[in-house]
Amino acid sequence: MTWLITGGAGYIGAHVVRAMTEAGERTVVYDDLSTGLADRVPDGVPLVIGSTLDDERVARALADHEVTGVVHLAAKKQVGESVDRPLHYYRENVEGLRVLLDAVTAAGVRSVVFSSSAAVYGMPDVELVTEETPCAPMSPYGETKLAGEWLVRATGRATGLSTACLRYFNVAGAARPDLADTGVFNLIPMIFEKLTADTPPRIFGDDYPTPDGTCVRDYIHVVDLAEAHVAAARALRSSPGRNLTLNIGRGEGVSVREMIDRVNALTGHDRPPTVAPRRPGDPARVVASADRATTELAWKARHTVDDMITSAWSGWLRLHPEAARG
Ligand SMILES: NC(=O)c1ccc[n+]([C@@H]2O[C@H](COP(=O)([O-])OP(=O)(O)OC[C@H]3O[C@@H](n4cnc5c(N)ncnc54)[C@H](O)[C@@H]3O)[C@@H](O)[C@H]2O)c1
Repeated sequence: MTWLITGGAGYIGAHVVRAMTEAGERTVVYDDLSTGLADRVPDGVPLVIGSTLDDERVARALADHEVTGVVHLAAKKQVGESVDRPLHYYRENVEGLRVLLDAVTAAGVRSVVFSSSAAVYGMPDVELVTEETPCAPMSPYGETKLAGEWLVRATGRATGLSTACLRYFNVAGAARPDLADTGVFNLIPMIFEKLTADTPPRIFGDDYPTPDGTCVRDYIHVVDLAEAHVAAARALRSSPGRNLTLNIGRGEGVSVREMIDRVNALTGHDRPPTVAPRRPGDPARVVASADRATTELAWKARHTVDDMITSAWSGWLRLHPEAARG
């Protein structure tokens, strides 16, 4: 069985490719390299350079490599940019997926694992977000992920395709420094950026109804997330016709202030944060119930927040050696 990993040259995709190949699965990467890097694709794994919007190229890749399963990570992921460029996001994330699903069903591919996001939930007003918590995305990015789930599930129902929509919570860390996220879109790299510039990290709002007043999120190590893909791929193969929707998180909340304190402690910096006003649209607390993934996939996150920070920091130092202290 060969798995086509779209977006396999990206941050998460590169980890998924490694986890799948280490688990003995054959993989081929399909990526337009718009944000991905060819050198993240391991030796021995074929790389097809192309867009998911290119129906002929997708169909040829599926046929040439005798693909029987797809893990679809290729997408645009910046929430702020999606507000400014909604049509671009709908085209890349929704139309790109529709083209892919068309080719997948025509080629007789049996399984699809889809990268969804906690962004589908928007501002959930619950202690733990379950898969039954109503979806109400707050950005065009989140909308494209929810629409993507609809496409995937509807195709599964109509054609018998086995599907898994994995709703990732806040992804962090790296298996190795050279696989670290190079973007600065999430809290941990944002803190790193401030410390590197010798400026205080910023907290947006400390008057939320949370224990220390700052927003609480659920962080998941990218290596654990990659292992969840392996487990999902195998679950779909072993019981065809399944359609799973699963939260992938740790089920533990970490506040922005706690994260800044841990980053300072683990990187040898000592920069207390400053507090800025709340940003519109930031929910107070988004923490997963990951019970369903444990039940369905026999998967559980193993890595701690400290593991995420230290591995992400090693990746950061590779690109920003000036950030080292002492
Ligand atoms: N990073 C996170 O915290 C997070 C959280 C939730 C969900 N996700 C989802 O996980 C997936 C991977 O995210 P990432 O953080 O690795 O981002 P990334 O930008 O590093 O990876 C995306 C990859 O997809 C490729 N790509 C983008 N559009 C494409 C297209 N139309 N055709 C072919 N290739 C295309 C890019 O070149 C890149 O290699 C995305 O679907 C994202 O929405 C990420």
